[in-house]
Formats: sequence, C-alpha cells, structure tokens
Amino acid sequence: MTRDEIIVWLEEDNPRKLEELYAEADAVRLAAVGDEVHIRALVEISNHCARDCYYCGLRRDNTVLKRYRMTQDEILECVRAAAARGRKTMVLQSGEDPKLTPEWVAELLRKIKNETDIAVTLSLGEYTHEGYAEMKAAGADRYLLKQETVNPELYANLHPDMKVENRIRCLEWLIELGFQTGSGMMIGLPGQTAEVIADDILFIKKMQFDMCGIGPFIPNPDTPMAADAQGALDMTLKAVALTRIAVPHLLMPATTAAGTVDPDGRRRALLCGANVIMPNATPLKYRALYNIYPNRQGIDDAEVDSMERIGELLKSIGRTISDGYGHSYKKK
Ligand code: 5AD
Repeated sequence: MTRDEIIVWLEEDNPRKLEELYAEADAVRLAAVGDEVHIRALVEISNHCARDCYYCGLRRDNTVLKRYRMTQDEILECVRAAAARGRKTMVLQSGEDPKLTPEWVAELLRKIKNETDIAVTLSLGEYTHEGYAEMKAAGADRYLLKQETVNPELYANLHPDMKVENRIRCLEWLIELGFQTGSGMMIGLPGQTAEVIADDILFIKKMQFDMCGIGPFIPNPDTPMAADAQGALDMTLKAVALTRIAVPHLLMPATTAAGTVDPDGRRRALLCGANVIMPNATPLKYRALYNIYPNRQGIDDAEVDSMERIGELLKSIGRTISDGYGHSYKKK
C-alpha cells in the first residue's frame, strides 16, 4: 500500500468500507501468524521518571504522584509466580528511572534467567549503546521502545528535551544488538494528522520491527494535556489494521488503552490485526501508582482474574492461547 492509499484509508469513515479493511487485516493476520494469541504478563517495576513527556502521568513534574520502585526480590517473586503459572514470557516496564542502571538491570536479568525459563522483554526507555549491550549480554530477549512519532515537529511538541533522532538511534541499536524489538505509537494526539500516522506506519515497515503496540491517547488530568481530546477507537483500529497489512509478521497487542476507551476495544483490535494481550501482573499495591493515564482497564484485577476473562474473550472469537515463548515471527 502506498502512503497515499494509507492516508485515504485513515480518512475513510464509511463503516461498511472499514469492515472490508478490518477483514483484510484479519486475513493477513491469519495467514502470517495464525490464530494463536500471545499472553505477555506485564510487571511495572518503577514509576520514577526523569522525562517530562506532556501526555504521561509518570512525567517528572507530576508532583502529586506517589513514586515507587520494586526491589529485585519483589520483581523476582512476580516472575517466579508467573513461571509457576506456566508463563514462558513476561515484560518488565518502568519510567526512565536513573536508579535502574544497566548494571542493576543486568543483575536482575541474571537472577531471573538463573531461576526460570522465561523470555524477558524490557521496556525501560532510552539507554546508551553500552547499556543496552550489557542488558542483552545478561539475557534480555526483547525490548519495547515506542517511537510515538517520527514526525520531528510533533515529537518535539510532546517530548521536552528529547529528540526523535535519539529515539530512532536507540531503536537501531536494539535491532543491531539482536533484541527482538518493538515500537509503536499513540493515536489521536493533538496535531497528529493522517499524514503523520501514515509516515509512522511506513517507518515501522522500513524498520521491520518484531512487535508494535498501537493505542489511543488518553488525557491524564495531572498533565499539561489534561484538556485534550481522547483518541478515537476507530482511528486506532484503522492504524492497527493498516500496520498489520503493511507488516504481516508483527506481534501486535490489543492494547489496554484500547480496552480503556471502549469495553469492546481489545476484542475489536484482535479482529483487525492484533495477536497479543498483555495482562497486568504488577503487585496490586503498586498498580494504581503506575498511572500513565486514568481508569486503566484491569486496574484492580489479579492477573489470574484477567486471564479468566481473556480466556473467555479468545474462546468467543475462536482464537487460542499460545503456550510458547512467543518469539518473533520475522524471517531471519
Ligand atoms: N495515553 C495513552 N497512552 C499513553 N502512554 C503514555 N501516556 C499515555 C496516555 N496519556 C503510552 C505511551 C508509552 C506507553 C508506556 O504508554 O505509548 O510509550
């Protein structure tokens, strides 16, 4: 699909036409990655953040947020519990916490890999090449770092003191170091046109990422973007579908944000290209503090409870749960 064709689809609002797009994306998903849905339990290990992104509740200037950082023992306990439930993969995510040095992360990874047979995805933000290399050497399998947008102007409007060139360089390093690498973006940001979204989809295609997360922007009252409009589920689904068609091998989550703006959001994402679900496995006492945006779906559910609901959802749409590591489908 050309850039112009992607833009036309993003601007389409005839529901019958959109059903055709979603059906095509669903067919591409089935042919490329099958009916299996991968479960990635997410542990949010710290909500400290040195960055000040205007959309995010973890931003350093948000002084009303109480901060926490899990200890390595607390994290290991979550990982052990997940492994005991048969999980073969999980995601460790945090704000850009300067206390999570590469040495600290590497030490944690060695403990995890020593005790369990689990594929670990990190989502901890920007580090140096050496920092990422140290994490990889300690056994990290994957890394998520959303580009958010490669449009320099929009990127600068959202991220004070950050540069899109650095973001892209980090993504290039991750790929070069052999991480299975994920990126992605929010949909419905102020100033984000169809052209901007099309260029982000084409960037994901050019980079041939292994994973890609796309979710609606949800305004957080404790941020400068409190008064901005929420991203629409429809535009999010169009972006998910077009990204699946552009890059058939991707692992793409039906995001929690999609489930937050609409109770049917995750099911609809699974029907137009998504093939991953990320239940929250953060200890409940920390869960509400990882307040990126308000009213997150599943905020008070133990992971076992969300799994029960996820199981029912997948059964209702004829999809199965993968019991593997969920490694990349990308042909090497
Ligand atoms: N609404 C939706 N998603 C958000 N994120 C951060 N803030 C928001 C928000 N207000 C997403 C970003 C980030 C991921 C951790 O959460 O895409 O990369």
